[in-house]
Amino acid sequence: MGKLMTEDEFQRIYRHVKTRYGIDMERKKEIVQGRLENYVQTGGYTTYQEYMNAVELDYTGKLERELVNLLTTNHTFFMREFDHFEYLKRMVLPELKQREEKNRDLCIWCGAASTGQEPYMLAMLLKDFFGLEHEHWDTKVLATDISTQVLEQAVRGIYEENQISVLPEHWKRRFLRPVNGGTQYEISAEIKEEVLFRQFNLMDTFPFKRRMHIIFLRNVMIYFDKETKRQLVQKVYDCMEPGGYLFIGQTETIDKTSVPFEMIRPSIFRKREG
Ligand SMILES: C[S@@+](CC[C@H](N)C(=O)[O-])C[C@H]1O[C@@H](n2cnc3c(N)ncnc32)[C@H](O)[C@@H]1O
Repeated sequence: MGKLMTEDEFQRIYRHVKTRYGIDMERKKEIVQGRLENYVQTGGYTTYQEYMNAVELDYTGKLERELVNLLTTNHTFFMREFDHFEYLKRMVLPELKQREEKNRDLCIWCGAASTGQEPYMLAMLLKDFFGLEHEHWDTKVLATDISTQVLEQAVRGIYEENQISVLPEHWKRRFLRPVNGGTQYEISAEIKEEVLFRQFNLMDTFPFKRRMHIIFLRNVMIYFDKETKRQLVQKVYDCMEPGGYLFIGQTETIDKTSVPFEMIRPSIFRKREG
């Protein structure tokens, strides 16, 4: 059993994480303590204040990265909210394919990619959809997250059998290969090269040079408060190509009065053209 976190200590960590990453852990003191206590104890810190002093003074950024790795919730899985992928295949991709026929270049961003299941599925869907024509298109997926730990796992692209078992058979056959004596499966090079993983904090100014056609921002805004969400949705709107699509988690909502997105379904939005 680790040290008890005082209310002041909790407030300091809470404010730090909220200000930098937007993550609102206001009523989550037990969770914060549960996730940090081993780390703090093993690191030899006598109090959480001492630990936070070290985090704030560490110019290498290592302690900050580890704090983020410990405090983010990275739960994700293959086939999550698969309706979105079906909608992409049936409605969005045929429309974009026709509209972008000249440039043959789609900008796709997955903004809370966690361990990679979501962007890899997007890449699989795109390969599948474009078929033989895929080689004439650039449909690379930019996949970002704040946690370096999940990004490392995502780049490796190795999953347990029970994680991949839900994928359609033809995707498994085509895009995964057994490794480690068949106990695990690795995403094929053909798919890996279609996804570019980078660390990016959604609270930062968006650095994109080109506008996005498709943005997946699923199951991340649940951690942000209303005003943080509003500002983020505005930035998303601004970096979106007119006619582009935003997908959010199916249990999430956005304030429709703040930006003029057209709501296609409660979790699918489109930026109006013209
Ligand atoms: C619950 S996962 C969702 C993963 C995936 N989108 C899905 O729906 O399955 C939320 C992810 O958001 C990331 N995240 C939280 N705050 C973030 C921020 N400020 N910037 C970028 N990513 C953030 C977390 O690290 C975590 O991996």
